[in-house]
Amino acid sequence: MSARSLCVAAEKVGRVKAALKRCAFASQQALATESGFSLSTVKSFLNGRPVDRLNFIELCEKLGLDWQAVVAIETEEGAADAVNWEESPFIVGSPITKPRQFFGRERELRRLFALIKRLPLQNAAIIGPRRAGKTSLLYYLMKICTTPEEELRPGQKRDWLPNPE
Ligand SMILES: Nc1ncnc2c1ncn2[C@@H]1O[C@H](COP(=O)(O)OP(=O)(O)OP(=O)(O)O)[C@@H](O)[C@H]1O
Ligand SMILES: [Mg+2]
Repeated sequence: MSARSLCVAAEKVGRVKAALKRCAFASQQALATESGFSLSTVKSFLNGRPVDRLNFIELCEKLGLDWQAVVAIETEEGAADAVNWEESPFIVGSPITKPRQFFGRERELRRLFALIKRLPLQNAAIIGPRRAGKTSLLYYLMKICTTPEEELRPGQKRDWLPNPE
């Protein structure tokens, strides 16, 4: 397996190609000559295919681009897509902080909101095994009623409280 390589995020390819023109490189070959890289490296770079990490950074500099703004996730050869981890449906390890990524727990939510809705206010204790989802549940309670509908999954219930704010 080769050393770590980087590639331009698919949706940034246009921006990188525009930078080639903006920097007055007449052709891909001109950039290759100027940077001392092979034409095939330059072509790979400009078309979003993986190139060696250091070459990637240097080519970005030659084009006046911030490499971190155009890079796709790091890859060991092969295809790679830009991943916006904030929006990714796959969360590993950390608690869920965005309501749209939270699933289940209807029974607990019904009980807790029933308590919160009523006066006098009562305390509730969230007790569960390690990694059962206690912190995620608390984030959900805090956010679900005031998160705009377009940031939720279709049909996700948010009208738990009459005056959530
Ligand atoms: N309702 C849920 N829907 C989807 N994923 C969840 C949900 N609740 C928890 N998870 C996932 O389970 C894992 C553990 O969640 P969380 O950190 O909230 O648990 P915890 O009980 O607070 O853990 P700890 O005991 O370590 O404090 C996290 O990776 C989280 O993303
Ligand atoms: Mg926790």
